[in-house]
Amino acid sequence: MSRKLFIAGNWKMNLSRSEAGELARALAAKIGHVEAVDLAVCPTMVQLATVGELIQGTQIALGAQNMFYEDNGAFTGETSAAMLRDVGCRYVILGHSERRHVIGETDELINRKVLKAMSEGLEPIFCVGELLEQRESGETMEVVRRQVEVGLEGVSAGDAARVTIAYEPVWAIGTGHTATPQQAQEVHAMIRELLAGRYDAELADAIRIQYGGSVKPSNAAELLNQPDIDGALVGGASLKADDFTGIVQAGL
Ligand code: 13P
Repeated sequence: MSRKLFIAGNWKMNLSRSEAGELARALAAKIGHVEAVDLAVCPTMVQLATVGELIQGTQIALGAQNMFYEDNGAFTGETSAAMLRDVGCRYVILGHSERRHVIGETDELINRKVLKAMSEGLEPIFCVGELLEQRESGETMEVVRRQVEVGLEGVSAGDAARVTIAYEPVWAIGTGHTATPQQAQEVHAMIRELLAGRYDAELADAIRIQYGGSVKPSNAAELLNQPDIDGALVGGASLKADDFTGIVQAGL
């Protein structure tokens, strides 16, 4: 099974409306017609509509960085899956390490969001990854296994095919310390094995697992060449059109 690479930009809490518009326009011009790799950009909630309009008609899809699991009602500050669909989102990042470790999201909360996203037709980019101290104490596999198991609890085989898993070791995010291709590959292979046990080998083979954590044009090719790395979730380098384009080109 050959999986199509999927490269997504997580813009995090960055860029003004005009900066986001400028970046979206530049990406539309540079990589808007790339078909060999699936592409997405994930701006902040307030810029989804603007960016969505600017990438309309291109191959770049729109994603959000978070959502809540309820339909509507008294949940101040939250955004529903239906609202994300309505504004044109195809994807939603869930369980990002910054939401786990800065905001305090738990595996159980993330699981509720994953289930809701699926039921509303969104495709989750479901993030997992260990902290530095967990890696240093040899707990990486156990931590990631638990995150995958709880996060995907109750997700049917039919729905699992629409999930992208992003392995993002927390110590590699925004630090410039990329995991070595071997370190990443080892965890990706474990995740795929786990999916094979949970579903079956054919489905596990079809599910894309992105790597995230200091991906840049200079290290992208080596990471993307690993057998179980099926794309990248890019933070800092996705804020510069040339850098994101360079990463996409590494995948072509
Ligand atoms: P950096 O690429 O800035 O390390 O961020 C990775 C990330 O968290 C993407 O979701």
